[in-house]
Amino acid sequence: MKAVILVGGFGTRLRPLTFSMPKPLVDFGNKPMILHQIEALKAAGVTEVVLAINQQQPEVMLNFVKEYEKKLEMKITFSQETEPLGTAGPLALARDKLLDDESGTPFFVLNSDVICEYPLLEMIQFHKSHGAEASIMVTKVDDPSKYGVVVMEKEAKARVESFVEKPKHFVGDKINAGIYLLNPSVLDRIELRRTSIEKEIFPKIASEKKLYAMVLPGFWMDIGQPRDYLTGQRMYLDYLRKNAPGELLASGDHILGNVMVDETAVIGERCLIGPDVVIGPGCVIEPGVRLFGCTVMRGVRIKEHACVSDSIVGWDSTVGSWARVADVTVLGKDVHVADAEVIQMSAKPEIV
Ligand code: GDD
Ligand code: MG
Repeated sequence: MKAVILVGGFGTRLRPLTFSMPKPLVDFGNKPMILHQIEALKAAGVTEVVLAINQQQPEVMLNFVKEYEKKLEMKITFSQETEPLGTAGPLALARDKLLDDESGTPFFVLNSDVICEYPLLEMIQFHKSHGAEASIMVTKVDDPSKYGVVVMEKEAKARVESFVEKPKHFVGDKINAGIYLLNPSVLDRIELRRTSIEKEIFPKIASEKKLYAMVLPGFWMDIGQPRDYLTGQRMYLDYLRKNAPGELLASGDHILGNVMVDETAVIGERCLIGPDVVIGPGCVIEPGVRLFGCTVMRGVRIKEHACVSDSIVGWDSTVGSWARVADVTVLGKDVHVADAEVIQMSAKPEIV
């Protein structure tokens, strides 16, 4: 079985992290975002993943692919656009890679910035059970206006009546979670040009009554923006607590709630860490530090008595002693916050 991950775009909403790293490789839970997806695809029996890319820094992506092709024993290839083709055009571009056998096996398509439990085996069963052309995963959210909204038919429970991308008026609260399982025939509907699967392809398939939606169990979040990234991290750690307790989460007197600490990180005396914190490899957390609701990426040093809350500290940065970083601040790679400095969104721009 094959899969496409849509990894286009510049990740502007996750700047300044994405100045140094393509969005799909930004760490989430101490591993690159798309690795969560690739591992889930492998577990569901996918043997080849096509990364549909159009952004800069392809050499960084290339190194990632080389490393994980070996580690995961999977084929991972690129399909590179010369200009952005939207969310459907990349499938037309990768057509030959997706259709190299006659079996008619469906393929997965994933948005690269969503995080969830990836119940992909259940999705394969769901797709088989209705036998139609396309399946999409849906989830419920409070504010559906920034997503694609899926309206279900009343008579046939799982069949989609209509699909409305970013609706201006309320049409429903079930939204497209960015995970699809499509029959190869869907490729015949897509032209090789910039085109949107949400605006041009799904509405058409729905009008022909060939689009079905499976309600995603468990948590879901689009982590392409700092606040949502931190909310997604909280949900992910909570999921680990319930499903893999003890294995991946830290414990001890200085730990509160769900905290993930890489084994190579060093934590000093009298720190208070948590809840909802991820600390990456090689980090040094000096004595007396307070961390909550935050991500501290690889190689960061947090100096004595500093406090970081509801924020993301990018790779190899330093936070000075008695400094305070708060309120959804995002520090990029190699940023140095002076001793006793206060950085928070209400006082300074969000991007530092
Ligand atoms: N290869 C390629 N080329 N990929 C692209 C391009 C492109 O030109 N444009 C966007 N993508 C990728 C993005 O990297 C992302 O993985 C995915 O397509 C969706 O794009 P976003 O920019 O993240 O869209 P969104 O978050 O506003 O909306 C989408 O996701 C929601 C769920 O998070 C839509 O699919 C909505 O319907 C959905 O609800
Ligand atoms: Mg998105």
